[in-house]
Amino acid sequence: MNFMYNLKQANNPNQTIVYNEEWIKSYDNYAKLIYEIDSDIYNNQKRFERDVQIVQNVIKKSNIKPISIIDLACGPGGHSVELAKLNPEISILGLDYSNGFLEIAKNRANQLGNLNNLYFENCDMRNIQLPDNYTNVVAMFGNSFGYFSDKKNELAFKEIQRIIKQNGILIMNLTNIDSINYLKPFAEYIVDTPSFGRLVDRRYKIWDSTTKRSVGRKIHLIQDGQVLLDQSLSIRVYTQNELQNLAKKVGFKNIELLSNIQDNKNENLGLMSDTNWYLFSK
Ligand SMILES: C[S@@+](CC[C@H](N)C(=O)[O-])C[C@H]1O[C@@H](n2cnc3c(N)ncnc32)[C@H](O)[C@@H]1O
Repeated sequence: MNFMYNLKQANNPNQTIVYNEEWIKSYDNYAKLIYEIDSDIYNNQKRFERDVQIVQNVIKKSNIKPISIIDLACGPGGHSVELAKLNPEISILGLDYSNGFLEIAKNRANQLGNLNNLYFENCDMRNIQLPDNYTNVVAMFGNSFGYFSDKKNELAFKEIQRIIKQNGILIMNLTNIDSINYLKPFAEYIVDTPSFGRLVDRRYKIWDSTTKRSVGRKIHLIQDGQVLLDQSLSIRVYTQNELQNLAKKVGFKNIELLSNIQDNKNENLGLMSDTNWYLFSK
């Protein structure tokens, strides 16, 4: 399905975003590039440790004894590795749609050498290849929900609910919709990457209040003007009320807003600079 957005509001009158719901698949070919350009997100050890500590605390408080923990949409695997280090007695399963990211995740784990409880598998959250009631803890870090149409987001949510046991939990870290005011319509950065050298990183972003989607375009140019990646993307940002309704609809008993974390808004963390932590109980 294609969505057309006009970027006039972003002072970019000549360009139109054509967003394909499968944009994330381009991470397969460009995973390494994105990993290096967004290293403040994907290689941020402080973020992994902080986020995983939040999950550990929630598990402790919920009186749940995890039989395994799934890091759904694990990306390059920083959180999965931390979870595996802290929970050596159970299996940690990192699942993601991008083989490129999974490869980086596996390399990260191999470098540590002794994480025998950590597994990575390809998975489309709209159709999870796991049995019902498979685990009692699922964690989703770094705003990893909302990539599809509302209907397919609901389907994915239902899938996540399906693989969680009765009394199990889902912990999700999602963009705080109030932070949308801080979106910069256009930003350009010079980035030095280990593998691709010096790059120009251009980002256009608008907030579409009708569809409640953050719609953007990332263009990565090498210095002589050659385009390495031109990627359109669109992410649905849910209000707490909407999440509440969605959760009830797919069969979660309860949803709780745990906390709000604001990182430095001047950093380039974009949708991850101001996030809410939600707990869903089945
Ligand atoms: C913003 S990244 C966050 C990665 C990681 N959780 C983190 O915080 O570093 C979103 C992730 O969602 C994954 N993703 C997108 N669509 C997916 C799908 N249909 N099923 C599973 N994962 C998906 C992407 O490949 C990407 O790794």
